[in-house]
Amino acid sequence: MRFQPVPLLLRDGRSALIREATRADGPALLALERAQVIARHGVVKRLDELPEDAEAFLAQREAAGLHRLDGHAFPLVVTDAHGALLGEASVLRQGFQMLRHTGVLGIGVHPSAQGLGAGRALMVHLLTWVRTHRDADGGAVTRVELHVRADNTKALALYRSLGFVIEGTQRAHLRIDEGTYVDGILMGLLLDTPEA
Ligand SMILES: CC(C)(COP(=O)(O)OP(=O)(O)OC[C@H]1O[C@@H](n2cnc3c(N)ncnc32)[C@H](O)[C@@H]1OP(=O)(O)O)[C@@H](O)C(=O)NCCC(=O)NCCS
Repeated sequence: MRFQPVPLLLRDGRSALIREATRADGPALLALERAQVIARHGVVKRLDELPEDAEAFLAQREAAGLHRLDGHAFPLVVTDAHGALLGEASVLRQGFQMLRHTGVLGIGVHPSAQGLGAGRALMVHLLTWVRTHRDADGGAVTRVELHVRADNTKALALYRSLGFVIEGTQRAHLRIDEGTYVDGILMGLLLDTPEA
């Protein structure tokens, strides 16, 4: 099932659009990730760990299956009225049959567009898309999970408000620098899926 674009009004009065991500978004998605890594909030990567160029970045997304159109991936972006990319969110399903009902969620909003409601809108529409999707054989995603830094209070508040619960703590999961560690948190949401 393809995602139908949804218009959105941001808290600063700008209009925006949530739509499905495509391969053509590759360069803008890399620029978005770069901006988040530079802002150093909520991320686990360093700048020199990002792909060198858009081609390599797109190859990574392809390898992960993020552009498959068969219900394996649910990639969304939010753009402003001029088409500039403000954020992205995706759910990527696990490959093994016993794990196919589980999707892993990731989200990022450009530092200059945070706090305007884009993140919440992305989450709400992404979860609705995932919840209502059915595979050709009737299969569905019934569990969404994510990893979040324990110091990412904004994201934790957002996820909690949408029903995600903490399922575990990975102690000292991130090593920021010598002697500074941050816990990782695993959160999960069981989806109440309507009948197909
Ligand atoms: C976390 C993130 C996705 C939220 O997106 P956003 O567009 O900034 O969030 P929104 O404006 O939609 O706000 C969503 C919720 O986040 C929480 N939130 C936002 N700003 C907050 C703040 N300053 N303090 C505490 N909670 C905050 C609130 O629960 C808010 O809901 P509300 O506005 O209804 O009260 C975004 O800040 C981001 O990309 N951060 C950097 C990357 C990251 O952390 N990704 C997630 C990794 S797990």
